[in-house]
Amino acid sequence: MSAHTATVPPHVAIIMDGNGRWAKNRGLPRIEGHRRGVETVRTTTFAARDLGVRMLTLYAFSIENWKRPQEEVGTLMGLLEYYLKKELATFVRERVRLRTIGRTHELPAGVQEVLHTTIAATKHFTDYTLVLALNYGSRTEVVDAARAYAAAVASGREKFNDSSWATFSRYLYTGDMPEPDLVIRTSGETRISNFLLMQAAYAEFVFTPVLWPDFTKADLAAAIADYNRRERRFGLTSEQLASPAKAAAK
Ligand code: FPP
Repeated sequence: MSAHTATVPPHVAIIMDGNGRWAKNRGLPRIEGHRRGVETVRTTTFAARDLGVRMLTLYAFSIENWKRPQEEVGTLMGLLEYYLKKELATFVRERVRLRTIGRTHELPAGVQEVLHTTIAATKHFTDYTLVLALNYGSRTEVVDAARAYAAAVASGREKFNDSSWATFSRYLYTGDMPEPDLVIRTSGETRISNFLLMQAAYAEFVFTPVLWPDFTKADLAAAIADYNRRERRFGLTSEQLASPAKAAAK
């Protein structure tokens, strides 16, 4: 795709960061930052759809997040359950499909229950998908995929000699999802933090200093405009991109 054709990245993934600092800046407890962060999850879900994005993946809870103080973890889980219960009717009305990636079977039973209900109620929607990364970590994902792939080889469903990225990647949590085109991280940090390491191999990255609770539709639009100024080459040269026939002939 040429950098000169303005397009909307079909799949945007966001590392939502800065809730704690947002609260600290205001002399509020961290939990207030997370509460405001949930509001931004709601607004960004529809902002992305309005801008033409087809899939939005949000890093809501990492495997490493369990190491936070027990009280904060409990509050985050409570907020997640509250958010999902509150949003179910909106997702159905607005035709938003909900999916998850991560070890969701390790989440509290109440969260699993509402996730299950919401996913089942929205699974037929095809226009727009919200993916929540919950109890997610890329390295764990690769281990889970390797186990599943090994089991498939052992049972004869996959042939060891046919192993390729195309066959193996189907065993990732994202097996049937498109790769992210644009990954955004808020709050000024410039790390990937174990998020979609395999899937973001060719993604564009935008790092914004905006703290997650302050992130707006305009900030998302600015990140998309930044994405459009880039040239995604997928390992090819600019000349090959300008003349796809030459690339195909290689
Ligand atoms: C980072 O802020 C954010 C998180 C740990 C998780 C994001 C969670 C939410 C937005 C709320 C729950 C999610 C949903 C989908 C309802 P931080 O606490 O690391 O901020 P800091 O780096 O400033 O301390």
